[in-house]
Amino acid sequence: MTKITAINAYEMLDSRGNPTLGAEVITECGAKGFALCPSGASTGIYEAIELRDGDEKRYFGKGVLKAVANVERAIAPSLLGVDVLKQREIDKIMRDLDGSDNKSNLGANAILAVSLAAARAAAESLKMPLYRYLGGAICDKMPRPMMNILNGGAHAANNIDIQEFMIVPVSCKSFAEGLKMCSEVYHSLNKILKAEGLSCGVGDEGGFAPNLQSDEKALELIMKAVNTAGYSESDINIALDVASGEWNRGRSDYLLPKRNLKMSADNLIQYYETLSDKYPVISIEDGLGEDDWHAWGKLTKRLGEKIQLVGDDLFVTNTKRLEAGIKSGAANAILIKPNQIGTLTETLDVISLAKENGYNCILSHRSGETEDAFIADLAVATGVGQIKTGAPCRSDRVAKYNRLLKIEQEIKRG
Ligand code: PGA
Ligand code: ZN
Repeated sequence: MTKITAINAYEMLDSRGNPTLGAEVITECGAKGFALCPSGASTGIYEAIELRDGDEKRYFGKGVLKAVANVERAIAPSLLGVDVLKQREIDKIMRDLDGSDNKSNLGANAILAVSLAAARAAAESLKMPLYRYLGGAICDKMPRPMMNILNGGAHAANNIDIQEFMIVPVSCKSFAEGLKMCSEVYHSLNKILKAEGLSCGVGDEGGFAPNLQSDEKALELIMKAVNTAGYSESDINIALDVASGEWNRGRSDYLLPKRNLKMSADNLIQYYETLSDKYPVISIEDGLGEDDWHAWGKLTKRLGEKIQLVGDDLFVTNTKRLEAGIKSGAANAILIKPNQIGTLTETLDVISLAKENGYNCILSHRSGETEDAFIADLAVATGVGQIKTGAPCRSDRVAKYNRLLKIEQEIKRG
């Protein structure tokens, strides 16, 4: 009764108004699962390939009709009759069918949408919530939000080079309380920006995107917002996503494009140390570029004892790249984005590898998102303890927070 009987695919839109792929998996017993792919802007060069049509007459080349056709004409015939409960087998069939290292033939967007939709259909066929199906009977660890409230870099049309300034609640007793604290700080920041005559327009992930004279000014404004909301450094800390891969593509040094400032890896490491001495920064993501392994080793030796150093573009949710990082002592945490690798199985495998080697994991959205809240369930199922899913603004971000609020209540009720 749990055999796959139909798979449908749809060209839909993401939060930036670009096409993305939705897939629906249906089983013999009538269970249905639907999932939508997100899409990055500051994508790592080693990510699995998102297949776009390249037909400039439609959506400026960003259509996904080829990926839709790949689902309906290649993937669906190969998966019909397969048991939807066998996620590893489903994902392996699609990987073999694609045959490439980076899913460039069928498209990681085509494969991931089916992979996630299959998991949803499986959960539905067992009448289980998705987090229970994926995480088992005893999963109950809610993630802490790492909430991006000030945007720069490739996600905002302002003059800030650091991509994300996030707040992290540390004194909260529940997810709901942490979310409340963060949301209050977000609103306080809004008022402060208004009072200082700064723009309250938002970036792709819902964080404010004002022009400021420096990164430090951003940190000062955020700490002011924390205090105005009635909190202190012992309640709310700061996490940064530098996304510095954007600064050194094809170069050995780093060029911060908005300020037109050149820095070496050593300068950057020193800068992070200074910032983290002055402000309660507990986590820094992509502080260095994805090919700068040697400097990553130095950064980790210098700051790894006191700060979470997260590899996003560095590891691209890929076990091979994480293995290389473990060997060379690069970073101590990994960002988990299912669409960087393209299947649920590989996402779960990289989380296991990270946990076995003492690396923290953070479930993450993309800057181009949808209403799909799969990562909320996945964060609870895997018990990773951290989720990065934007500001409490724009429904694509809030959908994940609302799903987590619901899951927390469901778990409490038992
Ligand atoms: P992206 O940004 O989705 O544009 O890659 C998110 C991140 O860098 O963490
Ligand atoms: Zn990142």
